[in-house]
Amino acid sequence: MEMMREELNTNIAALTGRLGTAPRLLARDWFSRHAFFGPSSTNQDTHDLPFQRWYRFKEAFAPRAVVDAISKLERVPRTCIDPFGGSGTTALTTQFLGIRPTTVEVNPFLADLIEAKLQSYEPQSLLSSYSEVLDAVAISTAEPWAMLANAPRTMVAPGVKGRWIYSAEVAERILTYRSAIEALGNPAHVRLFKVLLGSTLIELSNVIISGKGRRYRSGWERRRVHPTQVGRAFQTAFLNALEDVVRFGDRPCRDYSLFRGDARIVLSEADEADFALFSPPYPNSFDYTDIYNIELWMLGYLRTAEDNRKLRTATLRSHVQIKRSFDAGASSPLLDRTMFDLSARRDVMWDKNIPEMVRAYFDDLVVILTTLHDKIVNGGAVMMVVGDSRYAGVSIDVGRILVELANDLGFDLADLSSMRSMRSSAQQGGTYDLDETLVHLTKR
Ligand SMILES: C[S@@+](CC[C@H](N)C(=O)[O-])C[C@H]1O[C@@H](n2cnc3c(N)ncnc32)[C@H](O)[C@@H]1O
Repeated sequence: MEMMREELNTNIAALTGRLGTAPRLLARDWFSRHAFFGPSSTNQDTHDLPFQRWYRFKEAFAPRAVVDAISKLERVPRTCIDPFGGSGTTALTTQFLGIRPTTVEVNPFLADLIEAKLQSYEPQSLLSSYSEVLDAVAISTAEPWAMLANAPRTMVAPGVKGRWIYSAEVAERILTYRSAIEALGNPAHVRLFKVLLGSTLIELSNVIISGKGRRYRSGWERRRVHPTQVGRAFQTAFLNALEDVVRFGDRPCRDYSLFRGDARIVLSEADEADFALFSPPYPNSFDYTDIYNIELWMLGYLRTAEDNRKLRTATLRSHVQIKRSFDAGASSPLLDRTMFDLSARRDVMWDKNIPEMVRAYFDDLVVILTTLHDKIVNGGAVMMVVGDSRYAGVSIDVGRILVELANDLGFDLADLSSMRSMRSSAQQGGTYDLDETLVHLTKR
């Protein structure tokens, strides 16, 4: 761990050397709070890191992964694109390094989380807005089923078949806070406060989220959440955020571009950039819209079943949980061999569309890489953290397939390096035998 800290410090010193003294020291102070608990492709190091502690985004990589990636480049880029923003790790870290970020995110709650981190605040005015929210909740109540008219019935008691995520009283308090926040006049404050309320929602609920998805807590029927816990959790989240924006508001770069929507479409609106770094969803059938359903409905990002359907079809084709077209033409020698093996095992798969989903997944990434080829300067680098998957014993070597596809699109392979081994699903053995790989390409 001492060696990792030393390496990070050396890289930060090299990357921030060109900045003035104050921004350099601020960046170093932020990175000095970075822990080293797990691989850099996971977020285990960052639960106490300012900004990253606002919301536990399970699929994030650590800021030090961004530092490691940029340190491999010949010179420090001036601009960086991340087409799959998630919790905004790439964009926030590059702001600390004085590099201007552009990012894209399809999930509106996560897009707000990203923008809440990247935007600037006037602390005094934030405090006034907080006090406005408290004044409003003191004299109002909300009607859960009026505000959640089209949400899944399990959201609030009595729920479905005796199971529910919130008691009526807790849902009422959460929604009263939401209404008070939505009534604020400052859109940047609405965004931040909704994100902070969002950060309390799982701890106040009867469910937990794990790598496998959402499930009820054991003994949830006996667990009592008191409505006053809503205000206390929101206050804690607010005080943490206030501390972070006061201490680290003056980042070396405070500018950014955020595109809300499907990267397969909106990435084309981005300006040219020196470098791209991202981690797309993995083709492991993890349905992001479903995992973040509680935040999306409770905070009003989804209001109708149609909103939900649209969001799900705008996400990358990395899962089979919704009915959609898996039409795709992506082809490379290794992808075609993998498709042949997958199709031969279709009968024993838990969903017969898995082979087509896999080709569609690569087809979507070809769209992203084609657009990036247009956006990245000549000789510029594109780095992707990707994870392998396995279905019915057939392994999908995502890194090598992408290298073949990217070669046809005008990228050369600079490096392919393993970041960690991930655990496969119980059906596939449950051992740590799936690779997570950093693919480093350069534009020809
Ligand atoms: C692995 S996560 C990225 C995590 C990010 N590197 C971080 O550290 O927070 C992938 C993200 O891609 C988003 N996503 C999925 N499909 C998308 C699409 N079509 N356009 C833009 N974002 C998409 C998901 O919502 C998710 O937030």
